[in-house]
Amino acid sequence: MRPDVGTQAQFRKKRPPKTYRYDSSLSPALDWDGQNGGRELGEWLLHQVDEAAALPPPHQFDKPREFRSADGRVVVAVSSLREAVDQLKRLGRPFLNWAGKAERLSFDVPTLPLFVHERLSTKAIVETLVGHRKDKQIDMWDLFGDPQHSITDQILRAYEYQDKWVNRLILGDSLVVMNSLLQYEGLAGQVQMIYMDPPYGVKFGSNFQPFVRRRDVTHNDDEGLTREPEMVKAYRDTWELGLHSYLTYMRDRLLLCRELLSPTGSVFVQISDENVHHVRELLDEVFGANNQCAVIPFVKTSGQTPKLLPSVADYLLWYARDRERVSYKQLFVEKQAIEDATERYVCVETEEGQIIDLTVAQKSGRECIPSGRVLRLRDTTSQTGSETSRFTFRFDGGTFNPTGSRGWSTSPEGLNRLAEAGRLFAVGESLRWKNYHSDFPYKPLTNLWSDTTSSGFGEERFYVVQTLVEVVERCILMTTGPGDLVLDPTCGSGTTAYVAEQWGRRWITIDTSRVPLALARQRVLTATFPYYQLKEESRGPAGGFVYVRKQNKKAEEVGGIVPHITLKSIANNEPPEEEVLVDRPEVDTRYVRVTGPFTVEATIPTPVDWEADGVEDSSSQEAASYGSFVERMIEVLRRSPVLHVGGGKTVKLWNVRPPAKTLSLSAEAMTVSGVQGAGTPGALDERPVAFVFGPESGAVSEKLVHEALKEAHLKGYSHLYVVGFAIQPHARTLIENAAQMGLVAATYVQATPDLMMGDLLKNMRSSQIFSVCGMPEVKIHPVKGDVKDGPPRYQVEVIGLDTFDPATMEVDHRPGDDVPAWFLDSDYNNLCFHASQAFFPRTGAWEALRKALRGDYDDSVWDHLAGTMSAPFEAGEHKQVAVKVIDDRGNELLVVRALPNA
Ligand SMILES: C[S@@+](CC[C@H](N)C(=O)[O-])C[C@H]1O[C@@H](n2cnc3c(N)ncnc32)[C@H](O)[C@@H]1O
Repeated sequence: MRPDVGTQAQFRKKRPPKTYRYDSSLSPALDWDGQNGGRELGEWLLHQVDEAAALPPPHQFDKPREFRSADGRVVVAVSSLREAVDQLKRLGRPFLNWAGKAERLSFDVPTLPLFVHERLSTKAIVETLVGHRKDKQIDMWDLFGDPQHSITDQILRAYEYQDKWVNRLILGDSLVVMNSLLQYEGLAGQVQMIYMDPPYGVKFGSNFQPFVRRRDVTHNDDEGLTREPEMVKAYRDTWELGLHSYLTYMRDRLLLCRELLSPTGSVFVQISDENVHHVRELLDEVFGANNQCAVIPFVKTSGQTPKLLPSVADYLLWYARDRERVSYKQLFVEKQAIEDATERYVCVETEEGQIIDLTVAQKSGRECIPSGRVLRLRDTTSQTGSETSRFTFRFDGGTFNPTGSRGWSTSPEGLNRLAEAGRLFAVGESLRWKNYHSDFPYKPLTNLWSDTTSSGFGEERFYVVQTLVEVVERCILMTTGPGDLVLDPTCGSGTTAYVAEQWGRRWITIDTSRVPLALARQRVLTATFPYYQLKEESRGPAGGFVYVRKQNKKAEEVGGIVPHITLKSIANNEPPEEEVLVDRPEVDTRYVRVTGPFTVEATIPTPVDWEADGVEDSSSQEAASYGSFVERMIEVLRRSPVLHVGGGKTVKLWNVRPPAKTLSLSAEAMTVSGVQGAGTPGALDERPVAFVFGPESGAVSEKLVHEALKEAHLKGYSHLYVVGFAIQPHARTLIENAAQMGLVAATYVQATPDLMMGDLLKNMRSSQIFSVCGMPEVKIHPVKGDVKDGPPRYQVEVIGLDTFDPATMEVDHRPGDDVPAWFLDSDYNNLCFHASQAFFPRTGAWEALRKALRGDYDDSVWDHLAGTMSAPFEAGEHKQVAVKVIDDRGNELLVVRALPNA
């Protein structure tokens, strides 16, 4: 369904945007003189009430009456007096209104396909490395005495799904991506659970982290602001009206979430107290108040220290697609033997069989508790006793009767069985039964999650606004089963993906920003999990996990199935009921589990290759919008005529203007040679330089560069600057090689999205709007003489990130071990990037896996993965490699190199 990136040229036929309508029965403006049909609908309903009232009971029309909007849609249908009255009442219900709501009864979302940019598999990466360590391989095979299987099969496993499903990390605006999932892929009704953790409010920047390796983000900090087109676009489109825009943003996304949910599905929205009330109103509106399942306050990591009451909780708002059908599993949490000092009849039974009623001081922990089994003496009678349940019972030389109108909870035989089991105990006139803490040391999980920051959840944080694993885990376990699909439209550092992967759920996660996506990729790729035994290996997790009853040496129940001993089970001499603790499946400790294969995808519009007249189809909307985009860019260049090269160096421009007559160029300007930065301007260069701008959303294509190079060269420009927000690898290579090819020298200039932000960023310094971004320098080393007569092998080394200064012809070099991450595709097919090796230099990213494998692998394998030199590999079918370097801002810089002598 999802083609590899690079094939998008074949997707010329565009789909129209999809229009989503709001539920118009919740008319955005309840004003009878308004323009939204409220008055007409009200009058129409009154008319139906009149007519139905005149009919004999049950006041039913012979066929439903319909009220239609101007464009012919059925807005409301009623078939009886009751329904007409209900609709009329609905009209009068209060609702949340905001600027922009009344004006919009529907909204359009572009319908774009998703392309696969990258395929990753942890298992494949480790396998590649091990496969090349011959000596180690032999050791391992000896160890297992089974040369039939590769080592990794013996130790490393990942869950895989039927029908070749792979999990997905998607870059793009959640609205557009969810629309693609619905319109292109038919995923409506397929998602079992959605976890949404949107920005909590409208403070710009406060929810985002612009650098992969820096978690400190301060509000309104210029340096800290992100400069990615997707995100800035999201902001430009959303927060212009502050809270009003935020509400529209949330409602639109919730509406698409609803479409995606299965009839038994659930959505959880995580939010702080700042806007919890508004978001709940929105959820009521989109999902219906009757589908509200719970509000869950949970303790977050740290409380602010304000003047007033410190706030330590955030909230989860849980709504079902349909509360009547929602899929739900009760979770249990361990119960302390004594939780409440005021609870009565909490006792200890000593080894001698003595029962000691604990004092408040003991129950509250101020005084020691005698050793023995904790139990509660519970009532053996219940409220509404029938005649037969009121009888006299003899026990231990005394006689007992239920008091008042109460009756025994069980029959005379039942009470006898309790007595025989040693479970009865007389307290004065009343007879009680001994309910040991160990009979069922669990309690159902409630909506108050105060334990979420305790018990070992101090896990490493990757992202400034990372959610607690425990919180997402509970949501997933409560509302989904193994193999179900979980969606997170606000990926961040990928907590939902991580937890879903752990529990064998399929996942899709979306983020507008490259920084969190880079973090999520690393987190998921390098994670390890317990291997939960599958009921049916062939079906994958969808067949379910194995749960068993088992006891440890101390006879404590430690399996995933535990008995629930009750008065009834003892009295009726029945085996106790059993509860499944879904978070305790059987673990097979022989295996180390890693993340299954996943893809990195993006919604990039199909690229438009500009033809001679400027744009492919000059009558199209695209042509018009490209035209105005070029005008805007020229204006920005005029106002900010500086290209930043790094190290404080710049290229200054004069007299920026559209070229007089051009086929493919966007602008021209004069530069000054020799003098850079703050120096006195020297003489203007004789020959002007040319500019071409890539598309506003999408990558610069090779064809665009080619056309521009040809024209710039013919017209005698001294240099070509290609300005874009993203660039395809071949286009980049062409730019790098242009001078050598005898064409005009060219430079790629990364445009930062500041220029798209308009008024949003009034007080931002206009620095670095255009910057020349780095190009990875890689070296291919043939491996010498390791395998006689074998095919040649290679190693790739990342030497560093080079930034070329087009004015001084100098290169700024950053060493390879200073990049956050790099990936190697040892057989690049010019389309999708298959990561065969993944490196996180100078980090312990792979540490968990290294530890889990307990030295089963040679240390040098892991050294490779934290370094700049790849493991050896053989040439593949395409005889070329691609190296993708991730820079600090999450930018992906790709170079493609042919393998020598391959
Ligand atoms: C509060 S964070 C989520 C953190 C996540 N729960 C975690 O554990 O790391 C919100 C995320 O939503 C993303 N985001 C904001 N608006 C978005 C949009 N329109 N589409 C997709 N992602 C968006 C932001 O980039 C940010 O990473």
